[in-house]
Amino acid sequence: MIRKTLTLLAAALLTGCAGPAPAPTADAVMDNILSRKSVRSYTDQKLSDEQITTLLRAAMAAPSGSNIQPWSFVVLTDASEYDTVFAGNFNMDKFKQAAAVIVLCADTTVTRTPRGGGEPVVQPNGTWRDDLGAATENLLLAAESMGLGAVWTASYPYKDRYMPPKVALGLPETVVPYAIVPVGYPAGDEQPKDKWDPARIHYGRW
Ligand SMILES: Cc1cc2nc3c(=O)[nH]c(=O)nc-3n(C[C@H](O)[C@H](O)[C@H](O)COP(=O)(O)O)c2cc1C
Repeated sequence: MIRKTLTLLAAALLTGCAGPAPAPTADAVMDNILSRKSVRSYTDQKLSDEQITTLLRAAMAAPSGSNIQPWSFVVLTDASEYDTVFAGNFNMDKFKQAAAVIVLCADTTVTRTPRGGGEPVVQPNGTWRDDLGAATENLLLAAESMGLGAVWTASYPYKDRYMPPKVALGLPETVVPYAIVPVGYPAGDEQPKDKWDPARIHYGRW
């Protein structure tokens, strides 16, 4: 008991306070989340390879069911290809303005070894949509934190939107383009929307 008290006292002296220090980044994280907004027009300014890597590092840090990480990313910067790659997509004007377009792709299957052993089997992955949604939001939050603008545009489950990039980009059979995110430096001054609504919250039961 005495040893535990002394240890706590030493820890408090070392950190300069009596209790556990608050997470130093909590405010920054809330600021980042609450300032994110969809940005649909961009300047001509290019992005560096490092910036793209940072966005993808954030995406890949997302949680995923059984930590399967079913994502892959195709990074595009040549707008002259987009009439083919995104043929018929109503978001084309945003893609063509953006410094980069990131296609977030999902493997809809997972290869598992049966519990009792034996040959690995390919099964549907039940959580790939959730996993990719988390990765997409992470990417958008990273863009916001870097002073960039981006917008989540839907791909899956709209066949007319996901088939052109699936074919043009040579995706494997079980992989689908889940979301398409144009990103660049904002041309306008979009503001975040206040979505806080206490009426959506139920304590204890609905
Ligand atoms: C699944 C999903 C699909 C979306 N698809 C499009 C789209 O195709 N084009 C577009 O301009 N915005 C699209 N958005 C962005 C939404 O319109 C936007 O998030 C919403 O209006 C709220 O605005 P905010 O992002 O600024 O908070 C999509 C968002 C989500 C989550």
